[in-house]
Amino acid sequence: MIIAIDGPAASGKGTLGQRLATHYGLRHLDTGLIYRAVARTMLDSGHALDDVAHAVAAAKSLDPARFNDALKDQRTGEAASIISAIPEVRAALLAFQRDFAATPPGAVLDGRDIGTVIAPQAEVKIFVTAAPQERARRRAAELRARGEPVDDAALLADIIKRDQRDSTRAIAPLRPAPDAHLLDTTTLDIDAAVKAAIALVERTRRR
Ligand code: DC
Repeated sequence: MIIAIDGPAASGKGTLGQRLATHYGLRHLDTGLIYRAVARTMLDSGHALDDVAHAVAAAKSLDPARFNDALKDQRTGEAASIISAIPEVRAALLAFQRDFAATPPGAVLDGRDIGTVIAPQAEVKIFVTAAPQERARRRAAELRARGEPVDDAALLADIIKRDQRDSTRAIAPLRPAPDAHLLDTTTLDIDAAVKAAIALVERTRRR
């Protein structure tokens, strides 16, 4: 089984994906980490984020061993949003994600274009949303827990800007697949969101 989870920044899709994978005995890939790893390579090497040749080289030499929570800072997320709009970068990262999804026993992938581009054949597609203010509140709590300084107003502005960039880019924009189930987690904690997602998966499988 493949479960595709898409949604905007800080909507809770990563935690949801992890929990669904554990529940169904599937592998999990947070595809945001892939774009973040490429972005971090660009930042560390000092190349401009619109340097297509270097961004593609970084994408082609992707090292999954580098996917970890240290990539979850604000600056890397913002840079990931910028390099992910480069079509050649997305093309270079396609096979890795599709192979991951196709490897038995299946997987839960979360990102922006899983249900629309990476795995349009997924049995279950969930589009997770939450109000920007609630997403900013969650992200602020996460960053504070990591010891990062937080400017609440700047964080909300960043989330709104990132939504705008990710959903209006020409290639693989953030949008629900026509057959995706919408899950609004604004008033749900993570346990309630997981419960609602499992109910959606079960309902879809019964059909
Ligand atoms: O989910 P995240 O915040 O870790 O993602 C960081 C950025 O990576 C996001 O702003 C856009 C990009 N991204 C993408 O374009 N496609 C994906 N499938 C996942 C992330």
